[in-house]
Amino acid sequence: MVRSVEDLDVAGKRVFVRVDFNVPLDKKTGAVKDDARIRAALPTIRHLVGKKAKTILASHLGRPDGKVVPEMSLVNVGERLSQLLNQDVLFADDCVGDGVRKLVSQMKEGQVVLLENLRFHPEEEKNDEDFSRKLAQLAEVYVDDAFGTVHRAHASTVGMVKFVPQKGAGYLVLAELKFLQPLISGAKKPYLALLGGAKVSDKIKVIENLMARVDALLIGGAMAYTFLAAKGIGVGSSRVEKDKIDLARRILEKAEKSRVQILLPHDHVVAQEPKGGVPTKAAETAPRRSPRWGSRTR
Ligand code: 3PG
Repeated sequence: MVRSVEDLDVAGKRVFVRVDFNVPLDKKTGAVKDDARIRAALPTIRHLVGKKAKTILASHLGRPDGKVVPEMSLVNVGERLSQLLNQDVLFADDCVGDGVRKLVSQMKEGQVVLLENLRFHPEEEKNDEDFSRKLAQLAEVYVDDAFGTVHRAHASTVGMVKFVPQKGAGYLVLAELKFLQPLISGAKKPYLALLGGAKVSDKIKVIENLMARVDALLIGGAMAYTFLAAKGIGVGSSRVEKDKIDLARRILEKAEKSRVQILLPHDHVVAQEPKGGVPTKAAETAPRRSPRWGSRTR
């Protein structure tokens, strides 16, 4: 049973909230291009502020590979958050260290601090014990509201949790769990699952898990092209995970054995570049349809 943020004793306490602020930034200005993930965390943050907690927000942004990459700083995210919350958000220029400890120890009830990108430290993705302990020392309560990152076993999502006395999930994670639960146990048949995204490697566990439950898997997004390539179908210069073609082939074989249909897109819009750009002549002459789904392509 997952404990809700509502059941935690947070008043006056330092609460570490793992959020997923991995948002797209404008390459030129660094401004947040889509704040949906920041908005998704607002109910939990507002709840904590309302309860007079000292809210410490932590996230990754991009994949800086354990190095400080200024373009992947969360500073502009903090600015956008402050506008949305309509209150100041203090920005810490690191996520561990003396400066952060001092800032956090001086927090007042209801204040919000955003830590700098966790992945500027290689220890985050390594789920390093010492780093986990350092993160945990910042707080008395841990809240996970980073639904987009719950599949990662990193220091801020897994490692630190055992070192914090009180822990629970935020509203975003709770809402997602509520939707997912009936799909894991007792879903009505026929049961179809629709998956998108770019990487087969990221979805393999989900695909394997779903295969035991569903009648058919509809695969779209860039990931579909790795599967189409695995079936020997020409995909031009579409995005393909070349080193995952074998994996996609094995999934297709397993699906066939388990009598689970894997349906891949039939129709495609061909464009010069993956930017929603101008369709090529061939695509222009073809009527533009909503994607259809099927087990073959043409
Ligand atoms: C995402 O955008 O998928 C999440 O924030 C996780 O990011 P990651 O794939 O870099 O771990």
